[in-house]
Amino acid sequence: MRNPTEGQSQSAAADIVTAPQHWSQNRRDFLRILSSGALAATLGPLAGCSSSHAASRAEELRALLLADERFWADVNAMFPLNPAKRFMNIGTAGAMPKIALDLFDSENRAKAFDSLSGYTNLLTERTEVAPGFGIDPDELAFSANTSSGMCHAILGIGWNPGDVVVTTNHEHPGGNVPLAIAEARYGIQIERVALPVGNNQTAQTYVTLFDDRIRALRTQGKRVRAMMFSAPTYKTGTMLPIADLMEVAKRHELISIVDGAHLPGMMAYHYADLGMDFMSGAGHKWQCGPGSTGILVVRNKIRASNPLPLPNWYPIHTSSWAPQARTTNGTATYDIGSVITSCGSLHTPMFHSLVSACKLWDQVGRKKIETYDLTLSAYLKERICEVWGTDRLYSPKDDPKLVSALTSFNPFVKAGDVVNSAKSNEFVARMLSDYSPGFVIRNVNVPVVGAPSDHYVVRISTHLWSSVDDIDKLVAAMFDLSKKMG
Ligand SMILES: Cc1ncc(COP(=O)(O)O)c(C=O)c1O
Repeated sequence: MRNPTEGQSQSAAADIVTAPQHWSQNRRDFLRILSSGALAATLGPLAGCSSSHAASRAEELRALLLADERFWADVNAMFPLNPAKRFMNIGTAGAMPKIALDLFDSENRAKAFDSLSGYTNLLTERTEVAPGFGIDPDELAFSANTSSGMCHAILGIGWNPGDVVVTTNHEHPGGNVPLAIAEARYGIQIERVALPVGNNQTAQTYVTLFDDRIRALRTQGKRVRAMMFSAPTYKTGTMLPIADLMEVAKRHELISIVDGAHLPGMMAYHYADLGMDFMSGAGHKWQCGPGSTGILVVRNKIRASNPLPLPNWYPIHTSSWAPQARTTNGTATYDIGSVITSCGSLHTPMFHSLVSACKLWDQVGRKKIETYDLTLSAYLKERICEVWGTDRLYSPKDDPKLVSALTSFNPFVKAGDVVNSAKSNEFVARMLSDYSPGFVIRNVNVPVVGAPSDHYVVRISTHLWSSVDDIDKLVAAMFDLSKKMG
């Protein structure tokens, strides 16, 4: 990681425009290396992580990353990050690029200078960013963050007592709390599938878990109305396979709600193609917009990707609404993104900075960023495998449908210490205080099927400003600390 200067930042902007054009080959190479991992997994323990095959996978990923090192060094220089630290907790908070920060600052001052208000539905801004997410502007609302988007989605649905929502045991309070409010207020019932951890799972595991539970509930006479799940989860970073789970939702005619806190800025998804009813994402995490920003995708017309009727839904946080029927065809009856975004006077500099970060992502290339983030993460996972063993990974690594840029694992010499939350906290604190550079990571509690108590694993986010060198130093520091802590 380099210490950015003004000059580097300008040359970085120039380099983005003249960037190498081999990214789809990078993507193909990344997928090929991952599928060699899946093959190794099916061959069993003989082809495990300690084998030379696994070592070569790490080396292949490393070579792929190093080939574009200069490009990503230039991207890194666009962020005014503290060079004394390596920031690897983007799943909690990102950092604004300089271009967005400068805009935020100048607009904030202009707003104060002229005592400006912010009465707007931000249509121009939504029109600028919506194509990057593969949707129309009416299908995109700006929210306050993921949690606020989940409240918009869940608390706006016209629930009936006894409606069942099928969700998971790895959800974040941002989704769990509005579900609990709907349970207390409207009498919905919450059913949770217990999620697996580790590498021994595939996308089909999730299809079976949800499909079996929905069928069983229906057999009991329950009125299953919705599916809600995180993709990826904040605990193990497992990317629940949205496209496959949407097939389950459509088969059972369910409302689909995705807690996509980590999706904007990490994954280059086209939401019109996925067709979920709601996807609530953060603007301030991987998308690197300001705090208190979120991107909420709402299905607002019938597309081939999801022919189900639009759910019965009312806004719960707006100052701009009139009763209007939802469409039954491919043309929206009203701009739902405007209704959700408009709520009194908005802090426009904040949203303009989010737009500026989104435009930077579009310029660099969302697919390039996704491929880089996932390749860094795959490299880290392979290195963890080599040093600690595959059984220490709580994130899957071999099914390309399940991977994200979050990596959770158990670093302790004695594997059983993973239930010790104080030791886990100490590990995270010392990764920052005892090393130079210090590493900003976090830990998270994971309910594990069959375990009497939660496991406290460490979680690492690998984003566009990190390098191979950062990952190598991180792994060395984590290994050193795990030995020191015994
Ligand atoms: C899966 C998930 N959902 C929701 C949230 C809450 O995010 P926000 O702060 O954007 O509301 C987080 C935060 O880490 C998360 O990981």
